[in-house]
Amino acid sequence: TYVIAQPCVDVKDRSCVDECPVDCIYEGDRMLYIHPDECIDCGACEPVCPVEAIFYEDDTPEEWSTYYQANVEFFDDI
Ligand code: SF4
Ligand code: F3S
Repeated sequence: TYVIAQPCVDVKDRSCVDECPVDCIYEGDRMLYIHPDECIDCGACEPVCPVEAIFYEDDTPEEWSTYYQANVEFFDDI
């Protein structure tokens, strides 16, 4: 799955939402989240984010590694 990380917080540009062919990017309070089971790993969202907040899970920078779990937990709550 792809993961949205810290740069999205309080930015929420939403360009990624328009690109996603399966509509698996959902709005949270301060950032958006990618549903890990619905994402088809197409990669379309990654280049359109103006703040480069989106990463393939294994390529997420170390300092933002907790965002993968944050994505998963966001969907556990809803
Ligand atoms: Fe949607 Fe593709 Fe991005 Fe996954 S990688 S969130 S399917 S645009
Ligand atoms: Fe956030 Fe970038 Fe999408 S700022 S809403 S991940 S385009």
